[in-house]
Amino acid sequence: MNYVENAVSQFRALLEEQIARSERMRDAAPAKDFSKLQTVTIGVIDGDGIGPIITGQSMRVLRALLAEEIAAGRIVLKPIEGLTIENRLAVGEAIPKDILAEIKTCDVLLKGPTETPKGGTMESANVAMRRELDLYANVRPVSVPEQGIDWIFFRENTEGEYVLGSRGVEIPGTLCMDFKVTTVPGTKRIARAAFEYAKQNGKKYVAIVTKANIMKKTDGTFSALCHEIAAEYPDIEVEDWYIDIMTAKLVDEKTRSKFQVFLLPNLYGDIITDEAAQIQGGVGTAGSANLGDQYAMFEAIHGSAPRMIETGRGGFANPASILRAAVMLLRHIARPALAEKLESALDAVGEKPREMTAEAYTDLLIQRMQA
Ligand code: IPM
Ligand code: MG
Repeated sequence: MNYVENAVSQFRALLEEQIARSERMRDAAPAKDFSKLQTVTIGVIDGDGIGPIITGQSMRVLRALLAEEIAAGRIVLKPIEGLTIENRLAVGEAIPKDILAEIKTCDVLLKGPTETPKGGTMESANVAMRRELDLYANVRPVSVPEQGIDWIFFRENTEGEYVLGSRGVEIPGTLCMDFKVTTVPGTKRIARAAFEYAKQNGKKYVAIVTKANIMKKTDGTFSALCHEIAAEYPDIEVEDWYIDIMTAKLVDEKTRSKFQVFLLPNLYGDIITDEAAQIQGGVGTAGSANLGDQYAMFEAIHGSAPRMIETGRGGFANPASILRAAVMLLRHIARPALAEKLESALDAVGEKPREMTAEAYTDLLIQRMQA
């Protein structure tokens, strides 16, 4: 009985907290215009496993690309060290307070992968950062030009299954429950981001992907609100898809090239973007942007690859995914020419051979950019 009462009072507290979060979103300050900043501070967070290796190489690339602007003080590159699993476990915080304070002095961040312990109560650093900086839009492009694939995923990034993912209830020996949260302002803002992107980039088709036939409240509301926003964009075709059939359609070569923009809740977005990245050539090839109104964080889509470190292959880690993220970062801070320079170097140099070190691969990129 005690368990039930505890669970009920825990649920009440969660509900009140989520209502308050929803109200904060509704009353949020206007978005910062990243293209108009006098000085842009780019924080580079090293992370775990292969993280320091690939962020180290990214620093070299950014220094080469931004040399003039760094010298002129228009860009500050700020390494942020210590967001490691060891430090996080030692202080019992997903992002130790002093590191979070440093992160908040930056405008945009380039982040190496951080390890997420399975089970236990330690929250993922990614999830914590998305929440602390309110990075509500996870934007992941995937393209395979020779197959006509040009997709972009707008994954809701701060709620759904994630927001209370480490705070479910348990009646030991009997059952457990996790919670999924969909708020009205949280859904409208991701829908707005997706449709605005579609409009500004000449995209004509948005797929809303849910499982609203089963998750009736949360996904049902998500879909309904997306349609409400869609009504303001009459030139864009909108269709509802269920996540299960969508995972099949992505591997259906006959139909997949019709998709353009995907709009979806957090967990489905997590899963399907790995699938999409694999179609492009593997999760190591894709970049990911986490956008909010005040901050933005760019990261590789893959994990920290602890096995590469254990087997002594860390030096061969592939920095391509985090560098694709750096391309998005440069676009976000309105440096399109530099973004293109890096992007075309990545395209021209091609996939990193397995036996080429991260450093040698980066040398090639830098040479190419300076050619
Ligand atoms: C991603 C990752 C993260 C997520 C993990 C590392 C918490 O898989 O960015 O897709 O689940 O969102
Ligand atoms: Mg994922």
